[in-house]
Amino acid sequence: MRLLFVGCVWWSLSITAATEPISTSIAALTGFLARYQNLLCYFQECCRPEWISYHKTGLKHDLSTKLYGQHVAAQVVLKAVTGFMNNENPKKPLVLSLHGWTGTGKNFVSQLIAENIYQKGMTSNFVHLFTATAHFPHEAHVDKYKTQLQEWVRGNVSICPRSMFIFDEMDKMHPGLIDSIKPYLDFYDNLNGVSYRKAIFIFLSNAGGEKIVEVALDFWKDGREREEIQLKDLETALSLSVFNNKNSGFWHTSLIDKNLVDYFVPFLPLEYKHVIQCGLAEMVSKGHAPDKEVVEAMARDLNYFPKEERVFSMQGCKVIPARLDFYV
Ligand SMILES: Nc1ncnc2c1ncn2[C@@H]1O[C@H](COP(=O)(O)OP(=O)(O)OP(=O)(O)O)[C@@H](O)[C@H]1O
Ligand SMILES: [Mg+2]
Repeated sequence: MRLLFVGCVWWSLSITAATEPISTSIAALTGFLARYQNLLCYFQECCRPEWISYHKTGLKHDLSTKLYGQHVAAQVVLKAVTGFMNNENPKKPLVLSLHGWTGTGKNFVSQLIAENIYQKGMTSNFVHLFTATAHFPHEAHVDKYKTQLQEWVRGNVSICPRSMFIFDEMDKMHPGLIDSIKPYLDFYDNLNGVSYRKAIFIFLSNAGGEKIVEVALDFWKDGREREEIQLKDLETALSLSVFNNKNSGFWHTSLIDKNLVDYFVPFLPLEYKHVIQCGLAEMVSKGHAPDKEVVEAMARDLNYFPKEERVFSMQGCKVIPARLDFYV
């Protein structure tokens, strides 16, 4: 490709140089470079609408057909992402904080968002996933991590303003590290010439998960439908457990005080029927015909809580891909 490029540049310059003044040669070269860039971006991912554009109907469809038992999260996420992506001139980046029990779909939802914005989904060069324990394991190295993280975010947003950063295990992240990304989440026009307003930040954590479970359990005990649970029922629970917990690194920082998080997204604990749905979907994705008997056998063997009532799956849908192999 490079050889072809050099050859074509030489050819286009020599043709025009022989017959036209320098300005025409420059125009020809510029035109050629633009065409070359277009060709390149046809084959490889670029920060352009061909590769990055929001599909609202796709996200809506995915949230309603692939995500089980999360009516509140689905609603908040669709509203938040649509509002942000349809705004040509957002005042700040979109900051979502996803909370809930293990295996309830937090990473999965981040993946669905990525897939409906980036052609290449999670494998896009503009989607970045950090996991606290894997990427920032040693407290002693916090200062080094801070610099690296800031440079990473700044570098990537300068390459592509529409970048997405997912921070997993946010509750295990050092407060200093969270503090270091704070300026990027704020209402700044630009910082040192880089504007972060089109970027998306997603924080994932189990913080508040137990309180969300309590609310869901209360609804169940009162004989009320799960679908009756509304965001406001969970927001109070979240704020009590998460915001007032001074031991949790996240909240020591001024992320919340300064209203840098746009949406707190609660994930409900999953029930037996959702495990069945996950199991059937997993069978299909593994190329098997969906078999309810097989999935039910697997679902019965999983652990549920509270011990007596067995309402919620202990590991949500997380262990299903591995477990299912024993039953098919
Ligand atoms: N609500 C759900 N609907 C459909 N599939 C789900 C759901 N929750 C989990 N899954 C399935 O289980 C897998 C693991 O879930 P995921 O990694 O999203 O959980 P998580 O909430 O991030 O858990 P953790 O807090 O342990 O990180 C997903 O890839 C998906 O296949
Ligand atoms: Mg996760």
